[in-house]
Amino acid sequence: MTQTNTVTVTDNRSGTSYELPILDGSTGPSVVDIRKFYADTGMFTYDPGYTSTGSCESAITYIDGDQGILLHRGYPIQDLATNCSFLEVAYLLLEGELPTPEQYGTFEHAITHHTMVHEQIHKFLEGFRRDAHPMAVMCGIVGGLAGFYHDSTDISNPHHRMIASHRLIAKMPTIAAWAYKYSMGQPLIYPRNCLTYAEDLLHMLFAVPCEEYKVNPVLAKAMDRILILHADHEQNASTSTVRLTGSSGANPFACIAAGIASLWGPAHGGANEAVLNMLSEIGSKDNVSACVKRAKDKDDSFRLMGFGHRVYKNYDPRAKIMAQTCHEVLEELGIKDPLLDVALELERIALEDDYFVEKKLYPNVDFYSGIIFRAMNIPVSMFTGMFAVARTTGWVAQWNEMVTDPAQKIGRPRQLYTGPTQRAFVPFDKR
Ligand code: CMC
Repeated sequence: MTQTNTVTVTDNRSGTSYELPILDGSTGPSVVDIRKFYADTGMFTYDPGYTSTGSCESAITYIDGDQGILLHRGYPIQDLATNCSFLEVAYLLLEGELPTPEQYGTFEHAITHHTMVHEQIHKFLEGFRRDAHPMAVMCGIVGGLAGFYHDSTDISNPHHRMIASHRLIAKMPTIAAWAYKYSMGQPLIYPRNCLTYAEDLLHMLFAVPCEEYKVNPVLAKAMDRILILHADHEQNASTSTVRLTGSSGANPFACIAAGIASLWGPAHGGANEAVLNMLSEIGSKDNVSACVKRAKDKDDSFRLMGFGHRVYKNYDPRAKIMAQTCHEVLEELGIKDPLLDVALELERIALEDDYFVEKKLYPNVDFYSGIIFRAMNIPVSMFTGMFAVARTTGWVAQWNEMVTDPAQKIGRPRQLYTGPTQRAFVPFDKR
């Protein structure tokens, strides 16, 4: 980062002016450095929801929300999604460069050989009700892993960080698949080293011990692409949660469990599940207009799930690729899904509607992913778990960047206090 200029803020109560440095990155909006603002002025800045706050310096992912651009380490998401495997993108996010064939081989070997989880995890799993939401299971188990891998807990040691990172990326498909198998009452399927990351995930989800399961290459390719499209997305709620949790020096498995918890919400990763539920509720193209009307009604809390984004004020580039993948998958599998017709009609009507046009609400990544998951026979309750598998790569990359940032401090926001000022204590018998 470089400092090129300053901003002057004047306190109109006293007429005092303060000069604040402007810091420039390589592209995108500059930031006003307010780190000394409180010390100089005695005031905090106020930004609930962080709509104007840059919380860190990062070189991993760049989004231009107005243009609908998403770059990982400088590479457009379209190029990565159409030319790379998920593990290549994972390597890029973690290491900063696309891997050479040799580097890829070493990385793939490391990930493949960390896919098993400790056998004791079975007991953990059995503690859950069979109808527990898979995100609850994943959050619990990933947090629990902090108690299993004691050889990689020194976060100041690069080797420890690398092992923890590889373990997290490698074990997440196993944990997600086991959460599903457990909910079905089916035997758990162990990872297989001869399969790719996406194939292994599908195999663990759908194989049963009594017969051979061959992974459909169309589905494996689509899953790989979905994983790439969800791999990282800059300082979103779950990533910021991982960073904030990690800023205290917390165990990496605990940090990722915190990320899973944040991702689960319907405004974030839980939206893919909510989209499918919404499309099922709409049921037919004829009901789409009524649904759009509801979404526009200020007195109704209903929102069009899979629409809108804090950063994108244009078509989410991931949604474009997802829509195309969705059509390809349905066509190649010969599936005619009436929910796709509902989704297309919803998109058509919403994109022509003044409310959505004026507010720049476009379909986001979650709008089409659910229809692809449905074609793969992945149950709706597992959708967000699939997102968590993919996003673990981004969380881990961002956590590593945070831990090694010399400017890093424990995250400790302040507040605008509006509660009672100091008052006299009233003893119990006098209240
Ligand atoms: N349907 C109807 N109205 C909407 C929607 C929507 N999906 N999204 C935003 N609006 C309206 C909102 O009511 C508000 O109107 P007004 O200015 O009149 O009060 C305006 O648009 C701005 O919305 P906001 O809530 O202030 O925007 P935000 O940046 O805080 O929220 C969002 C972003 C993604 C949470 C929101 O658009 C939303 O709830 N979308 C539906 C859930 C969803 O699809 N989430 C997935 C996001 S992408 C994947 C991910 O990040 O995990």
